[in-house]
Amino acid sequence: MANYKHEIKVRLNRSELAVPGSRIDFFEKAAKSEADIIFLDLEDSVSINQKSSARVNVIEAVNDIDWRDKTLSIRVNSYDTEFINDDIEEIMKNTSSRLDLLMFPKVNSEKEILKFDKLVTAYENKFKRKKKIGFEIIIETTLGLININQIALSSKRNESLHFGSADFAASLGAKITNIGGINKNYGILDDNQKKRTFFINDMWHFALFKIVLTAHAYGLRAIDCPFGDFSDELGFDHAARSSYTMGFDGKMVIHPSQINLSNKIFSPTEKEILEAKEILTQMKLAEKKGKGAIAFNGKLLDIVSIKQAQNIVKIDSMIKNNREDS
Ligand code: GLV
Ligand code: MG
Repeated sequence: MANYKHEIKVRLNRSELAVPGSRIDFFEKAAKSEADIIFLDLEDSVSINQKSSARVNVIEAVNDIDWRDKTLSIRVNSYDTEFINDDIEEIMKNTSSRLDLLMFPKVNSEKEILKFDKLVTAYENKFKRKKKIGFEIIIETTLGLININQIALSSKRNESLHFGSADFAASLGAKITNIGGINKNYGILDDNQKKRTFFINDMWHFALFKIVLTAHAYGLRAIDCPFGDFSDELGFDHAARSSYTMGFDGKMVIHPSQINLSNKIFSPTEKEILEAKEILTQMKLAEKKGKGAIAFNGKLLDIVSIKQAQNIVKIDSMIKNNREDS
């Protein structure tokens, strides 16, 4: 069977802060924040008449600001816009090797990523760039979700699949305008005639599940959508916990107040870490005895448990070693 997984750089991606490219006043604050990844935005937080000036701002910011140990990304405009070719060329020509990633929004098909990869490779060679740029892909159109498999496999640069719930809602024609939140009208009514109870359903479950499923099938990070109501801490907490439980690696955040909470929720707990370390010890012992599966705390452990435990230990060690991928 073909091995679809390629080695991608292991990065912390618990919180990924969006910073509008037109808001120079936000840049230093973002660099000082605790966000694992910063993405400087040229897309939907920037108005049409500010597109070129935002591009200049973002390029200068990559080169001049001390981003410390953060992973740095730029969200470019989408494939079908008049800005995308210049975005890629100007960024590749003028940014230093401090830049780690490019984020591509509204990706509909693999054709788009193939084109981006070709361009980025050509510019990397032409401008003798030292660091290979990785790709982050936002799945936020109906076509993008349909074609997610081929999109995920389209380039060795691909590192993560993100869910963009606002654009996805628009693409779907869904009647919801609060970014990343619930819609109280989406649910089912119990048919018990004496006491009819309405249960709200999660409108994005299918999309989220498909994204985490595909990302992890191919060894990519899965990143959940932003939560627009930044005054609703409890709402954010629940949304993030739910996606952590499902397997997501982190969440995009649109406000600094969401960073610490996101980092906390997407970090393994002390209990999970201790258990993972114990599992690795037990599995080593089992291996010595020639066993593939053992009982531990009344539960079955087998080879796959090693992988899960290793993931937890690795993330924990990256957090403790200040994001160094050892
Ligand atoms: C993010 O880009 C979104 O559309 O939610
Ligand atoms: Mg979007």
